[in-house]
Parts: sequence; structure tokens; C-alpha cells
Amino acid sequence: MRTKIIAGNWKMNTLFQEGVTLANNVLENTGAVASGTSLIFGVPFTHLKSIAEISAKHANVSVAAQNCYFETKGAFTGEVSAAMLKSAGCSHVILGHSERRQYFNESEAIIYKKVLATLYEKLKVIYCCGEPLEIREKNKHKEYVSEQLQGSILKLSEKQINNIVIAYEPIWAIGTGKTATTEEAQEMHAHIRSAIKAKFGATVAADISILYGGSVKSSNAKELFAQPDVDGGLVGGASLNAVEFAAIVNSI
Ligand code: PGA
Repeated sequence: MRTKIIAGNWKMNTLFQEGVTLANNVLENTGAVASGTSLIFGVPFTHLKSIAEISAKHANVSVAAQNCYFETKGAFTGEVSAAMLKSAGCSHVILGHSERRQYFNESEAIIYKKVLATLYEKLKVIYCCGEPLEIREKNKHKEYVSEQLQGSILKLSEKQINNIVIAYEPIWAIGTGKTATTEEAQEMHAHIRSAIKAKFGATVAADISILYGGSVKSSNAKELFAQPDVDGGLVGGASLNAVEFAAIVNSI
């Protein structure tokens, strides 16, 4: 059964108290989150435990971290393990975000190791993929995303892939105000689903949630989410405004 998901990616925004207020305000503005639907707050590490506690009071609401390290513990100053995230009440970890790939040099091989470490702790992964503008302009976007998938999540077992949520985020649409058209989103989502089908079969492909990310707003959410292969969104900028984000949640 495919779950519809709206995940907010707060990135490195909000001080602790601001984050708590934001989460509370979002929840005040959304009705009960229906079963089969999931609302996830992707928050900074410092906010995880408190926002997990707030989320736990609401059905189908949970918390994601925005990164983790692939080692389980030890002398890795400044890093946070998947087990630590789990102990703070986290249910998901966002991995492979284009900002991590770009600013922190995360290769597909590193992302794959992080995916394995996260799954090992029985957390779910929101795996991000997506092409830069120059690749889209050369009409090579499908090949580019296929290669990303081949380097990580297509190497998983069938049991593991069931704990993956995919987020397609074309880099040219992230934080730019420029959203992919519904046709562009649907085309890539169908492509990703067919890659999952080719490797894991029709049932896994039908059940996996594929989110769209890149300038999702309340004004375009409904149309995007109405596409047959778009199962929700990973929302950056608009997730920092409680009323706007709640309107996106309510449009799924
Ligand atoms: P945006 O970010 O909604 O601000 O474009 C999306 C993301 O980076 O996950």
C-alpha cells in the first residue's frame, strides 16, 4: 500500500524555540493526518527530540533527521549515528540531498553507506535524487537519475527497498521558485518507478512512495500531487511558514 507523504525539510533554519513553535503551529493548522498519509518534519539535530515528542501526540506525524554518519560509533568528532537519531525519536533520515552532494562532497558511494547504516537501525530513508540544469538542457535527465539510483538504492534487497521513500528533486527547482511542470515531474516519477519495477517487481514498484521536491508551494501542490506517480512532496522553503505548509499538507 503506497503511503502519501508530505515532508518538510527545514534545512539549517530556525532556532530551537522557533522550531518548536513552527511544528506546533503547523499541527494546529492541519486537521488529523489521515491513515495512509504521513506528515514528517525534517528538522535540525538539535530539535529532533522535542519535535519527536510533539509529533508523537499526533497519529501519522513523525520526525526526520537531515543527515547521519555511516559508522555506528567511535572517534568521529561532530558526527551523529543512525542509532543516536533513533534514540532521539526519529523515524526517517533524509539522505542524498543535493545540498549534501554539492557542499559536502557526498558521492553516491557515501550515500549508499549512509542508507545501509540507517536501514540497519530500522529507520526509513528519504532518498533524494535529481539532475542539475545543464543535464536537463541536454535531455539526459533520465539517464542521470538512473545512474544515481544504480549507485545506491537499486543495490538494496527487496526487504530493504520497502523502507525507502524516494524524493525526486531537480536541482534547478530547489529554492529557485521554478517548479518542474506537472508533466516533467510525472515523466521522471514514472521513469523512477519503472526502474524500481525492473529490479524489484511490480508490487514493490506500486507500493513505493515517490515524492516531488523543488519549490513546492500551496499554489502548485494540488496539481503536482494529482499526478499518478507523485505521492507527495519534500518541501523546503514553504515548510518554514506554518500556514503555507499546513495548506500543502491539507492538499494531499
Ligand atoms: P525548496 O527545497 O522547496 O525550497 O525548493 C526543497 C528541498 O531542498 O528539499
